[in-house]
Amino acid sequence: MTHRIGIVGGDGIGPEVVAEATKVLDATDVAYTPVVFDLGGTRYLRDGEVLPPADLTAIRELDAVLLGAVGIPEVPPGVIERGLLLELRFELDLYVNLRPFVGPPSGHNDGVDMVVVRENTEGAYAGEGGYLRKGTPHEIATQGSVNSRFGVERCVRFAFELARTRERKHLTLVHKTNVLTFAGDLWQRTFTDVAQEYADVETAYHHVDAACIYFVQDPGRYDVLVTDNLFGDILTDLGGAVSGGIGRAASANLNPDRTGPSLFEPVHGSAPDIAGTGAADPRAAVLSAAMMLEFLGEDEAAVRVRDAVAKSEDVAGTTSEIGDAIAEWI
Ligand code: NAI
Ligand code: MG
Repeated sequence: MTHRIGIVGGDGIGPEVVAEATKVLDATDVAYTPVVFDLGGTRYLRDGEVLPPADLTAIRELDAVLLGAVGIPEVPPGVIERGLLLELRFELDLYVNLRPFVGPPSGHNDGVDMVVVRENTEGAYAGEGGYLRKGTPHEIATQGSVNSRFGVERCVRFAFELARTRERKHLTLVHKTNVLTFAGDLWQRTFTDVAQEYADVETAYHHVDAACIYFVQDPGRYDVLVTDNLFGDILTDLGGAVSGGIGRAASANLNPDRTGPSLFEPVHGSAPDIAGTGAADPRAAVLSAAMMLEFLGEDEAAVRVRDAVAKSEDVAGTTSEIGDAIAEWI
């Protein structure tokens, strides 16, 4: 079967790392048709378009999307992030943001092998809020957090299913139930209810601030974690920092029900500071492509890509030299 894969390079180092990821995809024997989209800050500056309806319609027809990164300094914060990244998450119902972290022992810890399941369509990112008296000394801004039983439960259930497939079968809920007593209570009750159906999965609960300490000092205690959108965003940047760095952190935005394509992207942004220099590490994008292969059922190719990335660990070169080395290993 030939997979139809949307390619969104985006801005800055995005197109550079995605070029290496497609180079690596080409080295596998997986049959795919690339469908290239010109989206991101550069396009927005040129014609004012963030996510034109025709592009969204075309994306819906795909099997998966591989995205580099978007955002450029010339565009105000939020325009592309909300208008493109969050819009795709809502429109394609990419309700699970999956971020695996694997790393050898470091100065701070004894090694990491954990996966964060972040709720990806609700919470503080749902866009609830507004201004009153904007621009005056009496201005008020509110930003709500939306938590539905339906949205929380489908995410929590995904996390239990994932934990069940792993050796340790351990799942930690991360929230702030002691202060965010309404949303936290909904999460906690949902977690406890769903846990009844997964007697084989051991569970734990940590407040998010405590989890930050453990991420640095003892991340080996974690197997699978599940948390809300905002906590998950912050916690996964920390996860990247304690396990091989931002150049290795891959992610999947999944529609587990497969009613549309899922989207795969490195955790890092467009890194304008190093764009065009060849200093961008393409491994996070390549590992995101491996997650995509796995989700598309191409397990064998995914393993080969991951093995090749591991073998390339000592290669220090430009973005394309590292991509070449990985493709050659395959
Ligand atoms: P960033 O992740 O782009 O860069 C942070 C630091 O990490 C920089 O020093 C950069 O050089 C370095 N870095 C990032 N990726 C790297 C790689 N593959 N290899 C080597 N070094 C790497 O985050 P920043 O600077 O906060 O954001 C820059 C732009 O990217 C902003 O417009 C932001 O909104 C956007 N952004 C987009 C994301 C996305 O498309 N999913 C995610 C995060 C930020
Ligand atoms: Mg982030």
